[in-house]
Amino acid sequence: MSQPENAIEADGLRKVYRRAGGQVVALDHFDLTIPRGSFFGLLGPNGAGKSTFINILAGLVNKTSGNAAIWGYDIVREPRGARLSIGVVPQELVLDPYFTAREALEAQAGYFGLRKHERRTAEILETVGLTAEANTYPRALSGGMRRRLMVAKALVHSPPVVILDEPTAGVDVELRQQLWSHLRELNARGTTVVLTTHYLEEAEALCDTIAIIDKGKLIACEPTTSLIERLDIKGLVITSAEDMTQIPAGLEGIEAELRGPRHLALRYHRSETEIGQLLDMVRRAGVTIRDLSTDEPDLEDIFLHLTGTGDAETPETGQQNSPRSEGIPGRRGPPGEDPSRPGGP
Ligand SMILES: Nc1ncnc2c1ncn2[C@@H]1O[C@H](COP(=O)(O)OP(=O)(O)OP(=O)(O)O)[C@@H](O)[C@H]1O
Ligand SMILES: [Mg+2]
Repeated sequence: MSQPENAIEADGLRKVYRRAGGQVVALDHFDLTIPRGSFFGLLGPNGAGKSTFINILAGLVNKTSGNAAIWGYDIVREPRGARLSIGVVPQELVLDPYFTAREALEAQAGYFGLRKHERRTAEILETVGLTAEANTYPRALSGGMRRRLMVAKALVHSPPVVILDEPTAGVDVELRQQLWSHLRELNARGTTVVLTTHYLEEAEALCDTIAIIDKGKLIACEPTTSLIERLDIKGLVITSAEDMTQIPAGLEGIEAELRGPRHLALRYHRSETEIGQLLDMVRRAGVTIRDLSTDEPDLEDIFLHLTGTGDAETPETGQQNSPRSEGIPGRRGPPGEDPSRPGGP
């Protein structure tokens, strides 16, 4: 088969989970096209439906209705072609405790029917930096190493599309950098890479295109740079020459937060406020400005901007004029059992 134009196509995809006490619509008439060769970010608050989408593609969750194709193969009519075309790194780490790293990859190769000469076990272990751990069992691997082993398992059958569900959650800075460079290399060699992340910084650093899902619907899909430019919200952190015990009077109209005695974080709308005006207000409020830095918008800002609501808990961090969530949106709690989950491969 010649190479398809799109790596992934979803058309009117819908997923309704039934569980005690009712049902959850996890995906609702969800349409998405991921072009071949792209490095694609799937973003959205907790419970948005990202993993559901990925698990449907992976064949782990049955869709309720709609269509999806991977590498041109319909996931229902041509499951074998679809399954061979993707490697998925799931959000939850699942490793067989009785298989060493090498055995896990060999078993995965067996699952895909790869013959001995088609296997690249040593090469893949090398790629993810686990050569020294080839004979190690999962319980003796660190969390980051386990995640790398999960990535390795997804690469065994050299799929043209690799999907990673939060590949760097809970991973240290060094490992994150390593993973990023593996993924960039993979993408540079032609693999379509799709990832979900709660770190805007990660999406910005890696992805050429970002799709945003909220409540099971696609609410944005555009080049990363244009999405970020479209954000009207700006942040400014002011270092004051004197200690502050509260937000200085006179700043009531703006969103301000004390981040320590000498750091005042301000957020404003570019379209409404000039930075010069803002600095005048701060000075009039009696603050001696010693230093300034800009505070880039985060994912929560993007969700707020796009949905007009945001969908996260607001942790009580520091004193705030107007509450706003920070960083990673709050979890909604563990998902229940999926009665539609098919058993085995
Ligand atoms: N197996 C399941 N059974 C029942 N409900 C589920 C199941 N899996 C997910 N859900 C529900 O479907 C919705 C979407 O969940 P999903 O895991 O797809 O979100 P997500 O975008 O991946 O979130 P997160 O960022 O927290 O990983 C949520 O309301 C969730 O509670
Ligand atoms: Mg998820």
